Amino acid sequence: MTLRKKLIAGNWKMNKTPSDAAALAAELVATLGKRTEVDVIVCPPFTALEAVGRALDGSTVKLGAQNVHPETSGAFTGEISAPMLRALFTTHVIVGHSERRTLFGETDAFINQKVLAALKNQLRPILCVGESLAERELGSTLKVVQTQLEAALQGVSREQAAGLIVAYEPVWAIGTGKVATTDQAQEVHGFIRGLLTKLFAETVAQRVRILYGGSMKPANAAELLAQKDIDGGLVGGASLEARSFVELVNAAIAAV
Ligand code: PGA
Repeated sequence: MTLRKKLIAGNWKMNKTPSDAAALAAELVATLGKRTEVDVIVCPPFTALEAVGRALDGSTVKLGAQNVHPETSGAFTGEISAPMLRALFTTHVIVGHSERRTLFGETDAFINQKVLAALKNQLRPILCVGESLAERELGSTLKVVQTQLEAALQGVSREQAAGLIVAYEPVWAIGTGKVATTDQAQEVHGFIRGLLTKLFAETVAQRVRILYGGSMKPANAAELLAQKDIDGGLVGGASLEARSFVELVNAAIAAV
């Protein structure tokens, strides 16, 4: 019997104006707003956090951001801090997404600072790790994932680690329609749980949710979610419409 509640998180990326985002959030609340068997989070762009937060108010759906800057305030043009996110009732934040790593040059050390800042401000990080296609073909998947995970979690205490969420997102599967096979995904998820055991403790590792991300869709979700170490999904494309996102949440409910 697992201690972990399944979790489906929608990463809306750079999509939707505040009014479009609020409309989608309202649709989700109408169908999912009272569900408690699984956790549901939506991560709109910064500009829509306030409107989506209002739409989610009183429901069980939680609000996440897609990024955060490690500093609290200051001369960091274009950035948003953890206290600013908290002021909008944001409870979660995606950190280290592969698009941030590859398109915006984020390093493991910078991602580590973001994880620490999020935890310090009572924001739960959804820490993304994953290998590129070239790295997989070289056979270095586990090594890459280990390096990213260990670097991002430097200085995180055992107590803090229990609140962490990890997302394994093979870069070659993101937005490409190519999904990792269940065996490929389970292998890495099991490996991550083993690393968490070594870094913190078995009791902590058994609590941390490890999400799969990369072309998760209603058609492949059930099989992925049935794996022992796959505790949910971080969903891009299929989270942009209520119908497919609700189907994913229902798949998670059925997998409980
Ligand atoms: P995708 O994106 O579901 O569109 O592949 C997942 C993600 O990048 O978080």
